[in-house]
Amino acid sequence: MSAAATTLDAEFQNRFGADADGIWSAPGRVNLIGEHTDYNAGFALPFAITARARVAVRVTHSGEAVLESTFAGAAPVRVRLDELAAEDSGFSGDGGWARYLAGVVWAFARRGITVPGLDVLLHSDVPVGAGLSSSAAVECAIAVAVNDLAGAGLDRPELVQICHEAENDFVGAPTGILDQSASLLATEGSGLFLDCLDRSTRQVPLDLAARDLVLLVIDTRGTHAHESGGYRDRVASCRLGERVLEVSSLREVSAQDFAERAHLLDPETRRRVRHVVTENARVQDVVALLDAGRLEDIGPLLTASHVSMRDDYEISSPELDEAVDTALAHGALGARMTGGGFGGSAIALVPTALAETVSTAVSAAFERSGWASPHIYAVVPGPGAGREG
Ligand code: GLA
Repeated sequence: MSAAATTLDAEFQNRFGADADGIWSAPGRVNLIGEHTDYNAGFALPFAITARARVAVRVTHSGEAVLESTFAGAAPVRVRLDELAAEDSGFSGDGGWARYLAGVVWAFARRGITVPGLDVLLHSDVPVGAGLSSSAAVECAIAVAVNDLAGAGLDRPELVQICHEAENDFVGAPTGILDQSASLLATEGSGLFLDCLDRSTRQVPLDLAARDLVLLVIDTRGTHAHESGGYRDRVASCRLGERVLEVSSLREVSAQDFAERAHLLDPETRRRVRHVVTENARVQDVVALLDAGRLEDIGPLLTASHVSMRDDYEISSPELDEAVDTALAHGALGARMTGGGFGGSAIALVPTALAETVSTAVSAAFERSGWASPHIYAVVPGPGAGREG
């Protein structure tokens, strides 16, 4: 067991006065490229990061899920499992993190997969609100736990579906399958080439160190949420684009179709659709370069993705733009915001020798603007979800 798992195991025993049946964990993710393409049946290339959400879980006969977490000030949440199974929408319990746990238990129950009771202790080191899928990490950790403890034997794609239902139908965030797929299906050392139309995946080797490169996460510490506001508006724009272009998803729109039919769209919808169309092409171009062993050449595509999100999809922020521009000005090969946007993190692909220079320059730029000091650190593709002990 990892040191973090051992600590959680001891804390579980401390709080519940009994041993956990096991520890399960699931990672957050960085999306290398392919943003806002997932709910358009498009392509994406995320990888799992080493930061993880962990749950210690014990099956009980209490008829309830007792949900605790190590988040500061988080009160325990108790949910009657029979009431949870009957619940159609929303969750009246407080505590944002608890909704993700309860939602997954609910999505299992919908399939007739239940346990007689659960004690759960959650600990996560995935930063919350940083665009690194802290919520999917929580969902996927409890999903692998319940799958094992209930003896359900569901495969990973089915667990992706369960977590996606928890997030969309229970928590109420209209997100795609990107985050849950990364957390459940990614493998150490690789990016996950994800086709959201048929949900097929392929591991694409991503060995940064072999090329003397690092991928920096620049967490701007401007937080975001996807249950409302801009994210929902963007989904609505895409649906409008589909109706006007008479396609079942924007995935079907090629660059040439777009050139021929873009005039049918109002200017805002045209920009949104253009982002999705061009982003799908960029993902495929990045994958082709990685397949050809040309990791150091993907930078311009990452940067073009950022420009598209800034100007066409309009989901960047002044902090994200500053992080990207400063990183590029100090030697990054490419940089872009990652995740849903409206805050969160940028990533920068940087020659190892320049990592310090880029970090220092970005921090200095933030200080000059009077913004909170960004959290900057290197990430590598880590393992997907699983049992730890
Ligand atoms: C969030 C959502 C994902 C995806 C990204 C944008 O992370 O949870 O489903 O839409 O934003 O690519």
